[in-house]
Amino acid sequence: MSKIFHFFIGLSLIALFGCENLGPEEPMEFELLDGPLDGLTISEQQRFLAGDIAFNDDVFTVEKGLGPLFVGTSCASCHSGDGKGHPFNQLIRFGNNDLNLPSMLSFGDGRNQIQNKAIPGFEPESVPDGFPFSVLVAPAVTGLGLLDAVPDADILALADPSDANQDGISGRPHYNIPPEFTKIRNNSVPQGNNYIFRFGKKAGSYDLLHQSVSAYNQDIGITSLYDPIDPFSGLEEDPEISTQTLNDVVFYLKTLLT
Ligand code: HEC
Repeated sequence: MSKIFHFFIGLSLIALFGCENLGPEEPMEFELLDGPLDGLTISEQQRFLAGDIAFNDDVFTVEKGLGPLFVGTSCASCHSGDGKGHPFNQLIRFGNNDLNLPSMLSFGDGRNQIQNKAIPGFEPESVPDGFPFSVLVAPAVTGLGLLDAVPDADILALADPSDANQDGISGRPHYNIPPEFTKIRNNSVPQGNNYIFRFGKKAGSYDLLHQSVSAYNQDIGITSLYDPIDPFSGLEEDPEISTQTLNDVVFYLKTLLT
């Protein structure tokens, strides 16, 4: 390769990495879907606002309980402007069905998410050798209240476990046992103790409270009354976020629509 070619590669690298801000750009105001459902009462609007602030503006620091291991410092650090995430803010989950590999339960807090950042003095996690993993980008969170309101019967009616309609897509409801802190939907169609889960990748969460509790714990290292186990030590901790704030965030997600 010629010297001049090297020079241009060097220049392009400076152009790529030389700028101070390597994060994604802020979305423009008109691009945001950050308004509430119509018809909220004044006190509901106040709850929406409190949830909005907790979701978008609450940036966790060491003083506020961040980590010690974490992936992002706020909900909005991944769900920028309530919208889709960006490849800069990825989340990694790993796991296997291979009985010859050590169980993933023996890594970290025994859960399948990698906390790839750490506060000073702690070692971030990385995917253990030989484990398959997926890299995920945060989805937009607008309109989830509508999904929350869909009756189980409709989900079951749309299920197509063996691709009977031959559109190349098979879909089956994910049945699992909801955590004790969730409130079971009135119109549920359970199978024994198992209920249809509907939020997150592969519908891993029962409801918006379940998803938010896990996000605080697994993504930010923030314990709550409902999930008090610290992802680093695996030990129970006093809540680092109030149940009031959690409920405000859930109310915000349920009513975030326009
Ligand atoms: C490190 C990045 C990251 C952070 C920080 C983060 N999320 Fe997420 N979020 C994701 C990803 C990736 C998904 C999709 C995969 C999954 O969780 O199953 C997701 C999914 C969700 C969903 C479900 C969306 C759907 O369509 O089902 C909700 C609700 C949500 N997050 C809320 C939150 C809240 C509340 C916070 C803050 C407490 C938060 N997230 C923090 C990355 C993040």
